[in-house]
Amino acid sequence: METIHTVAWMKEVAREARTKQRVTGLVPTMGALHEGHLSLIREAQRRCAPVIVTIFVNPTQFGPSEDFQKYPRSLESDRAALEKLGVDYLFAPPPEEMYPPGFRSGVSVEGLSDRFEGRSRPGHFRGVATVVLKLFEITQPHFAFFGRKDAQQARILRQMAADLDLDAQLVVCPIVREPDGLAMSSRNAYLKNGDRRAATALYRSLEAVQREVERGERNAAQLLAALRRIIDSEPFVALDYADIADADSLEPVAAIRKTCYVLLAARVGGTRLIDNALIEQEGDFFRVTI
Ligand code: PAJ
Repeated sequence: METIHTVAWMKEVAREARTKQRVTGLVPTMGALHEGHLSLIREAQRRCAPVIVTIFVNPTQFGPSEDFQKYPRSLESDRAALEKLGVDYLFAPPPEEMYPPGFRSGVSVEGLSDRFEGRSRPGHFRGVATVVLKLFEITQPHFAFFGRKDAQQARILRQMAADLDLDAQLVVCPIVREPDGLAMSSRNAYLKNGDRRAATALYRSLEAVQREVERGERNAAQLLAALRRIIDSEPFVALDYADIADADSLEPVAAIRKTCYVLLAARVGGTRLIDNALIEQEGDFFRVTI
């Protein structure tokens, strides 16, 4: 694996791959790699060569009071994990490579960005869309791999790719979870003993929705009440938002009729976590994938 730190060299390597008619796969990450990230990389390797993994803790997607400074950074062990998987290139630029002095531009995906995570984290998705557009431009991928863990992010990036006529095709991969259901996240490292156990409430609340849907419940208020019962029974978990939203428009729905997401965010002790379930119509019923 070659590790690349400059935009100029990454562009050169990516351009060369394109001219050789190779199928480039991109997996953007902020590092502190876990099995969720690795699952995206394996999927990329099934479809593409070369595979470029990026590790960049993107300052512009963190709010002023958020965890940019303390976000876990483990470049050496991440690099070892990527070597072991046989990744072709690691792109790990320093912040000034991506945002040189005088940087002024940004991409806003209107509407989809102002709710859920966007409401709780103003400016977050502008930072995400901007850095991902830059990464696409630098690495010229045919395919780019994202996790359903961040369902709103994936929806926004798909919109950006369509609106701006980007060549990259987005692939959204399933959520990888711990054995007890907690969605893997670099931020899980912040959870201390009791909080770690309490954090499973997010998964259990989605299971409660799944059970209700399987019993035939379609009303969003009823489904969300079942979710809240689980969250409210955990004193260390405070719900930030929970909603059922159309998968395309991300508008809240009153009842499930077509593909939608159950989206939630909660604070567990000092740690903010998100999770979601996908609800899809299959003939007469709805399948809930957590
Ligand atoms: P990060 O949180 O490091 O996540 C990188 C990718 O891994 C994202 O597409 C995310 O959805 C996916 N991912 C994280 N946890 C996962 C899990 N448990 N199962 C499956 N996929 C998972 O998301 C970002 O970084 C940044 O916003 C980024 C897109 C890199 C832009 O800075």
